[in-house]
Amino acid sequence: MEFINQMEPWFDEREADAVNAYLRSGGWITEFRKTRDFEAAIAGFTGATHCSVVSNGTISLTLALLACGVGPGDEVLVPDYTMVASPNSVQPTGARVVFVDIDRANLCMNFERMVAAVTPRTKAVMLVSINGRAPERIEEYVRFCRERGLYLIEDAAQSLGSCKHGKNLGTFGDIGSFSFSAPKVITTGQGGALVTDNPKLFAAIQKLRDFGREAPGADHYLTMGWNAKFTDLQAVIGLVQMEKLPWRVERKKAIYARYQEQLRGMPGLEWIPTNLQETSPWFIDVLVDATRREALIAHLKSCQVGSRPFYPALHAEPVYARTAERHPVAEEIAQRGLWLPSASKLTDEQIDVVCAAVREFAGK
Ligand SMILES: Cc1ncc(COP(=O)(O)O)c(C=O)c1O
Repeated sequence: MEFINQMEPWFDEREADAVNAYLRSGGWITEFRKTRDFEAAIAGFTGATHCSVVSNGTISLTLALLACGVGPGDEVLVPDYTMVASPNSVQPTGARVVFVDIDRANLCMNFERMVAAVTPRTKAVMLVSINGRAPERIEEYVRFCRERGLYLIEDAAQSLGSCKHGKNLGTFGDIGSFSFSAPKVITTGQGGALVTDNPKLFAAIQKLRDFGREAPGADHYLTMGWNAKFTDLQAVIGLVQMEKLPWRVERKKAIYARYQEQLRGMPGLEWIPTNLQETSPWFIDVLVDATRREALIAHLKSCQVGSRPFYPALHAEPVYARTAERHPVAEEIAQRGLWLPSASKLTDEQIDVVCAAVREFAGK
């Protein structure tokens, strides 16, 4: 039997044909019309007014913070449980990361903890909609930030296609950020996108990603800026992937539902509350007994099944080394979480193989 990867991207003849046609058309590969089309497709899908595509979903967050004027002396609130890119994106701005514990109900930043973490130096909140889930009270986060004069940056890297109360994730905050790295629901190899309804923030992002230029190609520099631009070669792939997105969003939900159906009630396995009307789970995530997680991973591997432990609680990682801090929910989740095979291209038969292997382990 072929190994079932925990995650893999999915392309077919359509992307191959699009790349071929683009190269034959004499395009310069660097960003131009296809990138603008890709941005329009993302804005159209999410319902945002503006979209700016950049090199990846980490630099996108840094640019979002810089566009909001975040700098030295400021603090940015970031959940303790997230991909390391979320806090790392703060570092280039010179601001300080303040870790906040998460909510058991959705693994996103806990509202009360966020409120308690605000100081006079707080400039922005980075709300990560982890695995397509968002807080039920997301509007309260928006209201709180507005009332306190804080910028709300949504790190929706894992949430393209998920929504809350009928509104796309990534469009609640001042700026929303997406990632198109290889494991994401759609991918361009690398890539990121920022969406906003705020024309001033959009104008700032456009300059920050293009050397501070007044306009593309115009060598008049209004602000400090870097090169975080995309390429048309990636955009032609992204445009085909965007056409596939609605199907993939539904397929991810169906994959999750099939896993739940087959593993429901299994001792030692806990599900995170998930409303499949709104959430398209990017990864199939379960909580297991922390002391048996490594053994389960090894068992799955022996059955030709890939899996991956959750991210660690970031405050205690050597790079941050804030070992005196305590974020109990993040710490527990990080030790118990496991991602099962989650690619959109997984067949029902493969899901059944994975579930049989998980059940076999439980019976051991
Ligand atoms: C929550 C979150 N934020 C940011 C990123 C960074 O995105 P990229 O890999 O495109 O830089 C990721 C990537 O997995 C992510 O999961």
